[in-house]
Amino acid sequence: MSNPQPGIFVEGSRSHFFLEYQLLDTVAPALLQQQVGAAIAALRQRDGRGVNIVWAFSADCWQRLDKPQPAGLKPFQPIGQGDKTAPASQRSIFVWVHGDSHSDNFDTALRVTGLLEGIARLELEVNGFVYKDSRDLTGFIDGTENPKEQGRQKVALIPDGEIGAGGSFVLSQQWQHQLKPFHALPEAEQEKVIGRTKADSIELDDEVMPEDSHVSRSDVKLDGVAQKLYRRSVPYGGVRDHGLYFLAFSCELERYDRILASMFGTTDDGVRDRITDFSTPLTGNYWFSPSRDELYSLVAD
Ligand code: HEM
Repeated sequence: MSNPQPGIFVEGSRSHFFLEYQLLDTVAPALLQQQVGAAIAALRQRDGRGVNIVWAFSADCWQRLDKPQPAGLKPFQPIGQGDKTAPASQRSIFVWVHGDSHSDNFDTALRVTGLLEGIARLELEVNGFVYKDSRDLTGFIDGTENPKEQGRQKVALIPDGEIGAGGSFVLSQQWQHQLKPFHALPEAEQEKVIGRTKADSIELDDEVMPEDSHVSRSDVKLDGVAQKLYRRSVPYGGVRDHGLYFLAFSCELERYDRILASMFGTTDDGVRDRITDFSTPLTGNYWFSPSRDELYSLVAD
């Protein structure tokens, strides 16, 4: 399999910067290609040395970079009904900086932003961190059902022979939590919202698993094929404003559409994920994260 950007698979980083940039309207393709290539080249030395840098692009930006579109790549569209809708905020360039040193990540994030100045504006910046033993701020372990070891690449990467091979389709969403009402529920009820036990993350038995639990709504199958994702979300925020920066990598973009339809009640059964009563998505973006080779092909010789 062609080589992916390694930072996608580096797990356990304590500090994360999620940076979403919007291209300026006036940017000519030649300047865009030249400046993005120069930014990638300038950061190449830093990548993997304590700091991991993962690049991804919107469908529109990838096209403007004059690159072939992987099958299914498209902008994020809102999904849901009324106030229970996942909104779209499609931006152009996504950079995920992570590692154990917050200081090094900060320096790198500042540098990326400087390198993109003049072609793109930083529109969203979210700082993520690891809470306890990889728990979401609700207190539940996040990532239990994630694929492990070799299985991660199979789930996350576009297979060989296809356009974009070794790259990945990415979904990012900033979810803002309403922790007070969630924590007001008895623990057994919280477990019904998630579909797993709180202490040990054991999946609830079928007899007691509600159809609107998060596990029920996100464990989607299509013709018997589990719609697996490789999730890399982490919590963000402080006392006043906090939640989860949801981030996932997949070999197929449609998997996100299917899972979000199931979570937001737009599938035939009309059931909505109860997690949406306690957390609200504020943003939604689809990205293409090219393989390492394809990323470096943007760098001028
Ligand atoms: C507030 C937002 C969210 C929170 C707090 C959250 C938290 C969790 C937790 C605690 C689990 C159970 C443990 C695990 O297997 O990791 C889980 C499972 C999962 N979540 Fe989420 N999640 C959120 C949003 C999403 C979104 C937006 C998606 C997809 C678009 C998603 C996809 C999944 C999947 C695929 C699983 C594994 C299901 C299974 O096969 O058992 N989650 N999530």
